[in-house]
Amino acid sequence: MCGIVAVTGYKKALPLLLNGLEKLEYRGYDSAGIAVINSETKNITCNKTEGKLKNLINNLNDKNIPGTVGIGHTRWATHGKPEVKNAHPHVDSTGTIAVVQNGIIENFQDLKNKLEKEDIIFKSDTDTEVIPHLIQRELNTLSKLKLENNGSTLLVAVRNVISDLEGSYALAVLWSGAPTSLVVARKQAPLIIGLGEGEFICASDTPAIANFTNIILPMEDEEIALLTPLGIEIYDSNNERQYRNPVSLKVSEQIIDKMNFKHFMLKEIYDQPETAKNWLENYLIKNSENGRYQINYPFDTDFFEEIERVDIIACGTSKHAAMVGSFLLEQFSGIPTNVYFASEFRYSPPPLLPNTLTIGVTQSGETADTIAAMDMEIKRRSSIDDKKFKPNLIAITNRKESSIGRQVSKIIDICAGIEVGVAATKTFFAQLLSFYGLAINFAQVKGTKSSNEIDQLISELINLPPLLEALIDKHNESSKKLAHDFFNIKDVIFLGRGINYPIALEGALKLKEISYIHAAGYPAGEMKHGPIALLDKKVPVISIASPGEVFDKVISNAQEAKARDSYLIGIAPECNGTEIFDCLMQIPSSNEWVTPLLNIIPLQLLSYHIAAHRGLDVDQPRNLAKSVTVE
Ligand code: F6R
Repeated sequence: MCGIVAVTGYKKALPLLLNGLEKLEYRGYDSAGIAVINSETKNITCNKTEGKLKNLINNLNDKNIPGTVGIGHTRWATHGKPEVKNAHPHVDSTGTIAVVQNGIIENFQDLKNKLEKEDIIFKSDTDTEVIPHLIQRELNTLSKLKLENNGSTLLVAVRNVISDLEGSYALAVLWSGAPTSLVVARKQAPLIIGLGEGEFICASDTPAIANFTNIILPMEDEEIALLTPLGIEIYDSNNERQYRNPVSLKVSEQIIDKMNFKHFMLKEIYDQPETAKNWLENYLIKNSENGRYQINYPFDTDFFEEIERVDIIACGTSKHAAMVGSFLLEQFSGIPTNVYFASEFRYSPPPLLPNTLTIGVTQSGETADTIAAMDMEIKRRSSIDDKKFKPNLIAITNRKESSIGRQVSKIIDICAGIEVGVAATKTFFAQLLSFYGLAINFAQVKGTKSSNEIDQLISELINLPPLLEALIDKHNESSKKLAHDFFNIKDVIFLGRGINYPIALEGALKLKEISYIHAAGYPAGEMKHGPIALLDKKVPVISIASPGEVFDKVISNAQEAKARDSYLIGIAPECNGTEIFDCLMQIPSSNEWVTPLLNIIPLQLLSYHIAAHRGLDVDQPRNLAKSVTVE
């Protein structure tokens, strides 16, 4: 979603801004813009374009834009179409204030109505444009108090303005009255300050900072900061000055490199054996007393003893991982578990039950709905004076420094490294692994599975990396061929059952989000209750058939599709029953519990190759954002 970069220092701002924006492209956007202030003339130069960042770069066309202080933005349209007039930065009517913003100002219409009554003319359809006008009004008021034109005055003005804003935002402000200063502020949207050599850079995410420095200060919620080339001042919402030590960026938070792959998504599919190795290295330890492996999460699991049920909150692909997790927690560990769309949970939460563990799953750690749902759960549980209802929270995320990382103290960092492709692949895989770890922990604490059963599951996990490597190599080729036959298809149905039903949903989501082909996933047994009406020879069916309790049932459901002339693609090992498939994407035989970790691979590859064959922007599909920071 929208990305912000802001810089102040002694070096030319424009190249720094463009470099930073390039690193934020992966968040998803549909227009881009920059504003740079010339500290001598105090002029602000603003340049904005529709579409990709390269349009902005071409538009700037090597223009010499002097100035060492500037702001930049990639915009993902919410209020107003992706047109130049709606692209950020937005300026006030005197052209002396420029603002970039990520978030949604929910009361913008009221504020706009008031400003219009004061004869302010709006040039865009955005919610953001109220901010520069409000700041200008505030600066006018402050000037009557004879405050000097400097960064501190801008800080006061911005602080006064944000106190009137409702919603969530991260913003950066330039003012010609204080041409070396920047004011940045955040509420429920991320902002990180980088401490470079001779410059401070502030951005929505670490990749935009990593080229300049690996020393960062993540801003806390509702903080505001003044940045000048000489230093930074951070204040909390009570206007108390904040002092804390900066932290170092991990290497995995810095590197964004496609290597020799055509797209990040393909590279990230290929990263998965390494993702599995990292996860195993991080979380699996051998008990020196009994020689058995166990899962070692960075928190004491004693509190699991009193947990009677689990609620999981997530969106999109993370919700699919949560559904596999729910299956494992219920069927392997015997813990009643519910999974909720975060966006639904926020407005229709289930009645509170005691001794509940709430798990938030979000690779970005910034998904607005997930953060808000977790926040609501923390608040409503904390308001009850009964320790059985207290909040017990775990977050599963790839960004432990993110909003969810600050919200929740028990974090399972999935350690997948930065994922650039908008379509989640390796983070989904690592989220799945994290649920296997939780299920094993719960089964141990609750004694719902024997040591042998637990050891067997752990050894299947240990064996994953080489299996995955071979599987990816094999299906990269086979799915390329299939993609050639199917790239023009209009509808695809995905079927799965039991632990693989969420994998059918995830296969369908991957295909539709990057190839724009309609796809739907169903529990195979539900086909005959409606969706079967869709089937004919133009609608291929991809059926996940893993040997185990429901194997025969899935094969019968596939048979029903075949009888309606659908072309049948099987995701299954070669065994009795799978001869019915017109095409078998073969999976190695394994324990049924771990089949989701294998079955997802050919589905990711098939979606990738279909989208690539269609010549689409695989890594940045239209309308989508990597980090969905608005409701
Ligand atoms: C799909 C995809 C999205 C995200 C969803 C939640 O490939 O990436 O469906 O899974 O927007 O994002 P996080 O996990 O960051 O909360």
